[in-house]
Amino acid sequence: MNRTKINILLKAAAPDDNVLLKGWVRTRRDSKDFSFMEINDGSCLKNIQVIADSDLNNYEAVKKITTGSAVAVTGSLIESPGRGQKWEIKAQNVEIISIAPDSYPLQKKRHTDEFLRTIAHLRPRTNKYGAGFRIRSELSFAIHRFFKEKGFKYIHSPIITGSDCEGAGELFRVTTFDRGVPQSQEKQPGYTEDFFGAETYLTVSGQLAAEMFALALGDVYTFGPTFRAENSNTRRHVAEFWMVEPEMAFCDINGNMDLGEEMIKYLVACLLEECPEDIELFARFVDKKLMAVLDNIVKSDFVRIDYAEAIDILKKTKRKFEFPVKFGTDLQTEHERFLTEHYFKKPVIVINYPKTIKPFYMRLNDDDRTVAAMDVLVPGIGEIIGGSQREERFDVLQARMQATGVDPQNYWWYLDSRKYGTAPHSGFGLGFERLLMLVTGISNIRDVIPFPRTPGNIEF
Ligand code: 4AD
Ligand code: MG
Repeated sequence: MNRTKINILLKAAAPDDNVLLKGWVRTRRDSKDFSFMEINDGSCLKNIQVIADSDLNNYEAVKKITTGSAVAVTGSLIESPGRGQKWEIKAQNVEIISIAPDSYPLQKKRHTDEFLRTIAHLRPRTNKYGAGFRIRSELSFAIHRFFKEKGFKYIHSPIITGSDCEGAGELFRVTTFDRGVPQSQEKQPGYTEDFFGAETYLTVSGQLAAEMFALALGDVYTFGPTFRAENSNTRRHVAEFWMVEPEMAFCDINGNMDLGEEMIKYLVACLLEECPEDIELFARFVDKKLMAVLDNIVKSDFVRIDYAEAIDILKKTKRKFEFPVKFGTDLQTEHERFLTEHYFKKPVIVINYPKTIKPFYMRLNDDDRTVAAMDVLVPGIGEIIGGSQREERFDVLQARMQATGVDPQNYWWYLDSRKYGTAPHSGFGLGFERLLMLVTGISNIRDVIPFPRTPGNIEF
């Protein structure tokens, strides 16, 4: 008999169906002639109850099954007389695959997120993390579906690169040298002898590669891991995160904003449709305002304002901020959240930031002071998307590189794209974990990624 899964069984089962179910025991209790087990197989939030009759030939062993043990149950489905469940399984056979000792850390009670982070290898077995990671899976597929429906091509940008796209220097080095220093040149590290014959890093963004492909295939996107050696322990930064990066040829900043808004709305709507039970868990136990926030995102037009306007608003409010508000400085999370949560009460797209605080590749505006940058800010998080129209003019780009300390020689191939058939183009990066925080109400980014990488933490 083929193994069935609880999610399938709950959708398409009929009384007296014979089933084989494998999963982990959440709880077990005995009554006079029966042992009742709640089994979960990870396919959905719901458990299924198994009734093991005392005439099973291994009944004595069944009575010793503990929480966390793995079992395979063959039996027939019967309609459940109990509340809150449609079906239960009357076992004909209970195979004990393994018994978990009493030290199993996930006994039936609520555990804190902090505690669960110390057992990151077991936390997906809890209701909350199981739901969170099923949502993560669904959202990944929804992203691919969104782009496929719009005719975008999926590009695999490299993970090892020689460039620092954001120019922020937050790079993890990739090297085969022992401790990063070439043995023959211990005093003067030189990378010509290293594996690639040059300094190499883990990518901070797939954008530069995506741009090359947008200028060939039209509309493209990347979706992969990116790495930043930011030594900041905040609840919205990790050193390894996944980024979705669309890039569109013949598209300006307005088309870019439209895509960002459409994409966020599409993904939220998809989830509400496809993961109602898992989302409901978060709405009940994690963030009571979650449904209202998600509903608001799907229904409202995102506000679009200039950076200068945002600065004005922030200056005029009576709210006290930790960081000062000044034209020419980047918006801090507290500023972003004030704008989206308190002032506009919906997602906000801020555009046209001062060129001095943005990377070389953003298109210089006619005022010569600002660039065609866009950040999308959402409640509870702040920045979820960062993007821009790209500088497509060779001379301007080269000058911007020089002004920002980027050596044009290292980016000759990038500049080439502005020499041969250059065209206006735009794109952005959406932080996948920040999107997950938004749709689950989870407030710490460490809790939406399977094995979080943060400074000083690489246990799992
Ligand atoms: O704003 P960022 O730095 O933009 C770029 O990297 C562009 N090259 C993207 C592009 O235009 N193709 O990063 C984009 C998004 C941020 O808005 C944020 O959601 C997320 O990536 N992000 C992080 N998420 C988790 N941890 C970190 N350390 C992050 N840094 C950025
Ligand atoms: Mg940014």
